[in-house]
Amino acid sequence: MYYYLLSILKKRAPLLYQFLKKLKNKLFFNKKFINKLNKETSNLLNSIKNESYYEFQKKEFFKTKDKKSKVGILEINNSCNINCVMCDTKSSSRKKKLMSLDLCEKSVKEMHDQGIRSILLHTIGDPLANAKLKDYLKILRKYNMQAGISTNGLMLDKHVDTLTEFFDICSNIRFSIDGVKKETYEKIRFGGIFEKLIENLNLAEKKLKKIGYEFSIDLVISKDNFDELGEFIVFFKKYINNPYKNMHFNFMTSLSPSNDYFLSHNTLKEHTSKNYYCQYASSLIPYVLVDGRVSACCRDYDGSLVVDDINKNKLENMGNGNGFKTLQNAHIEESDKIDNYDLCKSCYIIDTRVSKIWRNNITNLLYKYPNEKAEFYQNFFNENLNFLKNINDTNFKKLAQKYSLV
Ligand SMILES: C[S@@+](CC[C@H](N)C(=O)[O-])C[C@H]1O[C@@H](n2cnc3c(N)ncnc32)[C@H](O)[C@@H]1O
Ligand code: SF4
Ligand code: SF4
Repeated sequence: MYYYLLSILKKRAPLLYQFLKKLKNKLFFNKKFINKLNKETSNLLNSIKNESYYEFQKKEFFKTKDKKSKVGILEINNSCNINCVMCDTKSSSRKKKLMSLDLCEKSVKEMHDQGIRSILLHTIGDPLANAKLKDYLKILRKYNMQAGISTNGLMLDKHVDTLTEFFDICSNIRFSIDGVKKETYEKIRFGGIFEKLIENLNLAEKKLKKIGYEFSIDLVISKDNFDELGEFIVFFKKYINNPYKNMHFNFMTSLSPSNDYFLSHNTLKEHTSKNYYCQYASSLIPYVLVDGRVSACCRDYDGSLVVDDINKNKLENMGNGNGFKTLQNAHIEESDKIDNYDLCKSCYIIDTRVSKIWRNNITNLLYKYPNEKAEFYQNFFNENLNFLKNINDTNFKKLAQKYSLV
């Protein structure tokens, strides 16, 4: 009902929608929100002091085990216009294709029957590299589904009219941008052209932000871009509404099956861990792939994490199906069964408690200091990283005091 009313509101009264959204941001993302983050940081620091990452993850795993996912993933295409070094989507051995519209409709209908109201349109491809985007959005609209788009933004000009037309079901776009210097951007987002990105961000601002779209900007941290994070904030913040809410600096994971770039460019070796008790094995988030097979994970470059098939079985039963339970048990049993899954065996992640503290500190800082110079932000990033390398209460207090974070 909520999503139905939301799409009606966006269609019939966009100005009222924009006003209510601003109000919501004011009411929810305020000092109280920051205090909540600080409380979370304090709990996480306690956990780091008292238990290993393995123990922590195990508890988290059982908290979410077999919960129904509220989000579905529809791989409308598994192709991409570029090949970022930390993703290396071109190394995927799965056949490149577009999802058929019949399969899209079947999947969306089943997701809807399962109570899912929000669908992300990517796995390891770019939804704007899909010439038929409009046809998929039509199907989502028919079922009152909200669409989430994450994109490199380089092909936005091809879809700007479609995105305008479908504002009622798609009003947020995440732009993934990993450098503010042309050389850095083009090294990481291999095949991308910095000037084209800027041209499209300006177009998005002019045509989409104006009608109420909310943008976020994400960056994957690596040794290649760490030294320009401060400059990144100062340059890109004009494109988003609330940088503290909509700008994210994420640690790299070993998403690409080859861990070469991850291992050589990871900035936080101290907290890098095998992906024990992975959340994707805790409960099934359905990744419906282009051909209808259902995978449990975004790292599925070769189909080896496929647990079912929507052409043969109902989505409803897949969380308890043999395929998913076998994967889940391999993660639970602490035996060598995990070795049956090559991708899980070689999967690394930064301790999620440490990443959360990192993110909380940045949100807190950007909330407090929205208009500083690049150098100020860069110094903070350097000190925040050093704190994480030697994480404890005393070092947190020093950082928090220096920047008045608590
Ligand atoms: C795989 S992409 C697919 C969607 C779209 N092509 C994009 O780039 O936003 C989804 C997100 O994963 C991020 N990503 C890629 N490689 C990563 C890695 N090794 N670690 C963490 N995030 C990664 C991207 O930057 C992007 O924000
Ligand atoms: S991160 Fe996104 S844009 Fe980059 S190669 Fe992967 S799918 Fe393509
Ligand atoms: S590859 Fe395995 S361990 Fe890694 S994220 Fe996917 S399901 Fe989890």
